Amino acid sequence: MPNRTIVAMPGDGIGKVVLDEAIRVLSNAGFNADYVEADIGWEFWRSEGNPLPERTLDLIEKHKIGLFGAITSKPKDEAFAELAPSLQDKELVYSSPIVGLRQHFGLDICLRPCRTYTGNPLNFIRRGPNNSIEEPKVDVAIFRQNTEGLYGGVEWSNPPRQVYDALMTHPKFSQNFGDAPKDEVSVSTRIFTKKYTERIVRAAFEHAKKYSYKSVTVCEKPNVIRETSGMMYKMAQQIQKADFPSIELWNTNIDAQMMWLTKNPENYGVIVAGNMFGDIVSDGFAGLIGGLGFACSAQYNPETGIGVFEPTHGSAPKYADYPVSIVNPIAMVESSCMMLDFIGEQNIAGKIRKAVAEVVLEGKVQTYDMAKMSGQANVVEKGAASTAEMADAIIDKL
Ligand code: NAI
Ligand code: MG
Repeated sequence: MPNRTIVAMPGDGIGKVVLDEAIRVLSNAGFNADYVEADIGWEFWRSEGNPLPERTLDLIEKHKIGLFGAITSKPKDEAFAELAPSLQDKELVYSSPIVGLRQHFGLDICLRPCRTYTGNPLNFIRRGPNNSIEEPKVDVAIFRQNTEGLYGGVEWSNPPRQVYDALMTHPKFSQNFGDAPKDEVSVSTRIFTKKYTERIVRAAFEHAKKYSYKSVTVCEKPNVIRETSGMMYKMAQQIQKADFPSIELWNTNIDAQMMWLTKNPENYGVIVAGNMFGDIVSDGFAGLIGGLGFACSAQYNPETGIGVFEPTHGSAPKYADYPVSIVNPIAMVESSCMMLDFIGEQNIAGKIRKAVAEVVLEGKVQTYDMAKMSGQANVVEKGAASTAEMADAIIDKL
């Protein structure tokens, strides 16, 4: 059988090193693939005025599966100032290429699992009865709607007249905002559609069924955001009743959920939310299991089979130019395991996950974050593992 081709998108900053190390782990684990490198990120914004070139989209369209490191995004004005001089008169507007990728390919399902590694010094602990120390075992799978909602990009400052007039027809708008001059109004919309809300809710229930989680929690705010959150919750009730009666449906508000996070995180199984609340709640849970060095994600379109797998951290520019990279590659390695699951290579994924778990449990090799050092170029001299040494340790256990 010919090798599978994976589109490797290193992006910016630490994205490059974590992706290289993850690919090294993959090949040592026996995953045979060809990797084509695709351009994405800041460099291409500056030189071409497009951080997500057409040729990159073509490669993903063709090969379907992408591994993505991280990109750097900067605010609109700063981005414009960094454009090559020859592009500065072209009225280009920067927008995040990873958000662009999600929208272009309709990668509407985002899965972010957060599972405690036994022995991880970064695990959340809390005080129990009689001053005892408890270390709850977290095992949640967060399904975040990845293309709509507050990150859907439909927004204006000083909205066009038709939009403003349409808003004025809403009694709450005229009552609460009607006195503000049009040019002092900024609007970011939160649009949910039935099709994609149903898809994310169903994906959550199907995952719960497949992996024997006892509950699915809709984490939104339907008591206040009645239309969008309300639609998701109502839909979850219908789907649960019709197709997943043996799985419990829970309903939490995002704010309360963030508080319960530290009280009883072990109670939750699958969680489903819209784009922004899913983003928030998944970072919250990631904090309990080791933070950004451990937080992995998959995003895919179930119809086309296109999937892009990435750590949830960004490009961490302050660590990008260290002569020896110090960042933790586990989030990227775990994201690669999610890719393997997606393409039916669960055996190799299992092997890698077991190796990571052993390294973490043993505790001999720890990157600076695990060793609780502050990130400095000299942490390796002080005994922290470099990015490559952590990958080596994982490879040794395979
Ligand atoms: P970040 O995730 O890049 O870094 C935040 C902090 O987390 C770092 O300073 C570091 O202390 C820690 N950290 C991140 N990755 C780590 C790793 N693998 N091992 C150990 N520690 C790690 O987020 P920040 O600083 O807010 O953003 C930096 C840039 O990344 C921005 O330009 C932002 O727009 C972009 N970004 C890109 C994302 C993506 O590509 N999907 C996601 C988040 C941010
Ligand atoms: Mg985030």
